[in-house]
Amino acid sequence: MKGQFPLERFQSIRTPFYYYDADLLRKTLQTINDEVERHENWHVHYAVKANANPSLLRIIRNAGFGADCVSGGEIEACIRAGFPASKIVYAGVGKSDWEINLGLDNNIFCFNVESIPELEVINQLAHQKGKTARVAFRLNPNVGAHTHANITTGLAENKFGIAMRDMVPVIEHATCLQNIQVVGLHFHIGSQILDMNDFKALCNRVNELQDELERHRITVEHINVGGGLGVDYEHPNRLPIADFKSYFDTFARTLKLRTGQSLHFELGRAVVAQCGSLITRTLYIKEGAFKKFCIVDAGFTDLIRPALYQAYHKIENLSSDSATESYDVVGPICESTDVFAKQIDLNETHRGDLIAIRSAGAYGEIMASGYNCRQLPKGITSDEL
Ligand code: LLP
Repeated sequence: MKGQFPLERFQSIRTPFYYYDADLLRKTLQTINDEVERHENWHVHYAVKANANPSLLRIIRNAGFGADCVSGGEIEACIRAGFPASKIVYAGVGKSDWEINLGLDNNIFCFNVESIPELEVINQLAHQKGKTARVAFRLNPNVGAHTHANITTGLAENKFGIAMRDMVPVIEHATCLQNIQVVGLHFHIGSQILDMNDFKALCNRVNELQDELERHRITVEHINVGGGLGVDYEHPNRLPIADFKSYFDTFARTLKLRTGQSLHFELGRAVVAQCGSLITRTLYIKEGAFKKFCIVDAGFTDLIRPALYQAYHKIENLSSDSATESYDVVGPICESTDVFAKQIDLNETHRGDLIAIRSAGAYGEIMASGYNCRQLPKGITSDEL
């Protein structure tokens, strides 16, 4: 055992694989529930896009969470994992007809709608089934977030959501449609957000928009503020559970809910990031002209975040306690971007050593690809070992 890892057990598992600490996940879920239960009518829908591993989905469902889905495949995965359809929200700028039909057939909680053409199609498909679709409008609040540009979503320049100036006419139009029931407003400003002022800015914008709606005598059942809370990638051991208290307190203090209105969250990363590590084996230590490469058997096909967003993940050698040396940790893919980290200190590393790439539970396994005809990595939870 090194740290929290059952090293002996790992020896017989084919690398690379994802390892999930189920106890940490349960503790994280409990922390969230403790915060949320202090407020009447607050609900968390786990953002399945972060990780749809069936074992994790079952643990999250058992904690009573709903689900936030962005595709028919995610809706199917959630139904299989036992999430009640009445707790499923379905978002996305490009929903196909079969996906909308799947949502209608299962009577999901609501569709988060991003455009008028989409609304018309949902109305038409619901009409064919003699059903009424519950919809929330995703509004683009034009609120920035201090995070990587690729994962900012709430600015006017992004493809997401309906522009604020269109909010009233869109809702008025929707209320005329026979098979649509407008139930909520939906927002999401970005991901890996650590500055609570960004969420505060979102709350202030929601307050303004609700005031405007009230002037038009429009009220909605619920407000959905999306997800976005970040985690500490630098210190996964010191801060294994995100600062949910500050996050939820920000909404409790700043957001003005109307009487009877419920508040919904769609947290993904902060739920699962820290419980997951990518476990990979060192294949070779290669002495370059002026540095050492630690070549591992995982590549960006297994974890694409460093290559795609220049994301930092802490890397540890689980098999060695020797003095540290500097390495570039790289994968086997035939691309120069297949690098997990440059010039980092690892305990002196040899062929066969197991390496943990930490904080990889969110947007890791689920973003894996088969490029180079590589096998997809498996995910194993501590419950299964
Ligand atoms: N709700 C909506 C509408 C979203 O678009 C997202 C994430 C979430 C909720 C969940 O956000 P979270 O709580 O996980 O921040 N692949 C990127 C992250 C993409 C996030 C996309 N949307 C990464 O690896 O950093």
